[in-house]
Amino acid sequence: MPDADSPLLLRAARRQPTPVTPVWLMRQAGRYLPEYRAMRERHSFLDLCRNAEAAAEVTLQPVRRFPLDAAILFADILLILEPLGVGLEFARGEGPVIHRPVRGEADVARLKPIDVASSVGFVFETVRVVRRALPAKVALIGFAGAPFTVASYVVEGGASRDYLHTKRLMYEAPGSWHRLLEILAEATATYLNGQIDAGAQAVQLFDSWIGTLAPDDYRTYVLPHTRTVIRALRPGVPVIHFGTGTATLLPLMREAGGDVIGLDWRVPLDAGWSAVGHDVGVQGNLDPAALLARPAVFRERVKAILARAGGRPGHIFNLGHGVHQQTPVEHVQALVEMVHELSAR
Ligand code: CP3
Repeated sequence: MPDADSPLLLRAARRQPTPVTPVWLMRQAGRYLPEYRAMRERHSFLDLCRNAEAAAEVTLQPVRRFPLDAAILFADILLILEPLGVGLEFARGEGPVIHRPVRGEADVARLKPIDVASSVGFVFETVRVVRRALPAKVALIGFAGAPFTVASYVVEGGASRDYLHTKRLMYEAPGSWHRLLEILAEATATYLNGQIDAGAQAVQLFDSWIGTLAPDDYRTYVLPHTRTVIRALRPGVPVIHFGTGTATLLPLMREAGGDVIGLDWRVPLDAGWSAVGHDVGVQGNLDPAALLARPAVFRERVKAILARAGGRPGHIFNLGHGVHQQTPVEHVQALVEMVHELSAR
């Protein structure tokens, strides 16, 4: 497709100029939307993910309401763990639980290989259904968890604050740690390429919890594996590499790879962009909590973020992390319209 006809999000990811700044939101499909909650009354979260028609419907819900520049596939970073045999469950009100966490060398040695095609093929079907239904100007973003963040669930057994089991394995049994991340990296690359082959036009790698690591540990225990994933992806498809708490990690994340680096709200966008270098794009970075305030209040913050981007090609507007479920739907509507209005050039 000639660049002038391609979705704004893809042009911005390639650092080409766009008439307005493209915008999408992490967790734009989810519990703040009444139509999502209605679907959840009839299906469990995993059933929604596994049913391509239902998952496609949820993917499209925010795109029908708001003038978004991208849809993000409805799925989860932990789906890829089902075939590992660790007992993944999305428990009501508790988030994800892994019933048989991988804590030591023997646990890593016992892991089953991940056969991506047979275990998460339904995700590729969702991508095909969504792409057929989506207007040409709206890009479809595929995604996966980065090896560290997915490993943190495998080792902790769920969400964590201090990542003590993860860090103990990493420090005490580095051979097993690297083996675990190799298994995840290989499966993740296959998984993302499957999404791309099915029609995903860009992919985001979520390393949401990487901010728990110091730069030297990131370099030693994580960077090589994230780089393996990114290097294995089909060329020409933009990769967005996102994490939170990353102020000291940004240059290393950039070294690991990605055409666009996702910034959380703790770093000023211009400082973050300088840290990763202006030869990559940036995505972000409104504090998702700002959407709980009145639109007149967060409008000033949107202006400030756009001012820090300075009209430079390569900025994709997003929140610094996912939409909170308490967010009023009208505020999301106002935000998406406001980004286009305030960035028009
Ligand atoms: O709209 C979108 O962004 C696409 C769908 C999406 C989900 N999860 C759906 C979901 C995406 C991109 C994810 C990624 C994901 N999943 C991440 C990385 C992004 C981030 O938020 O940091 C992580 C860490 C997970 C793991 C996960 N899945 C957690 C921690 C939870 C529970 C937290 C919560 O909000 O309840 C989930 C469940 C989950 N994934 C829900 C959704 C809509 C809520 C399920 C429900 O109860 O309906």
